[in-house]
Amino acid sequence: MKFFIDTANLQQIEEAASLGILDGVTTNPSLMAKEGISGTANVERHYRTIAEMVPGDVSAEVIATDFEGMVEEGKRLAGIAPNIVVKVPMIKDGIKAISHFAKIGIKTNCTLIFSGAQALLAAKAGATYVSPFIGRIDDINWEGMDLISEIAAIYQTQGIKTELLAASIRSSKHIVEAALAGADVVTCPLSSILGMLKHPLTDIGLEKFLADHRKVQEAAANA
Ligand code: E4P
Repeated sequence: MKFFIDTANLQQIEEAASLGILDGVTTNPSLMAKEGISGTANVERHYRTIAEMVPGDVSAEVIATDFEGMVEEGKRLAGIAPNIVVKVPMIKDGIKAISHFAKIGIKTNCTLIFSGAQALLAAKAGATYVSPFIGRIDDINWEGMDLISEIAAIYQTQGIKTELLAASIRSSKHIVEAALAGADVVTCPLSSILGMLKHPLTDIGLEKFLADHRKVQEAAANA
């Protein structure tokens, strides 16, 4: 399973990349706004910087919601760097745009997926990735992870090559559950990735190893 980080924050991307486990980055207009990035030139510069920081795919989302606008914007975004993936919302014109991008060799990530039907349609249009939003489904008291299992089953049964990218991850537990449910990729906040490191028995165990080592060193020094 690939690990993407879901942020437009350069320090966080750098920290995740330094672990040597980062395969890519996803962004969205809210995440870009959180970093205070606005204006076409600044937005494109920021995407270029991110694309240079990671070898893998970097999703950059279109703002346009009509076919012509999405195609124009998507081509410009895809031209920023070879690893930019154009993120397109799951709407009628979005599906048209994804079909178009697939025909001209531009990679896409179909975002705001909340049903198996949407994931099937996006794959049929030729999306490189689909992004079902687990956390936002959990937020309305449904089971987000069921959608990951459903899409994984559909794609496996149908031999679909579109990558299932579990998004809107809110915890380390979500990452493990998405892996079990058959996600090809998870995109996560840095805190959820770092949370995977934690176990109290690891800390207790390491403390004991080091204490034992210290004891024998001291005994040898005093002998
Ligand atoms: C992924 O591509 C989305 O941008 C993101 O995961 C949404 O997460 P949120 O529901 O925490 O905003």
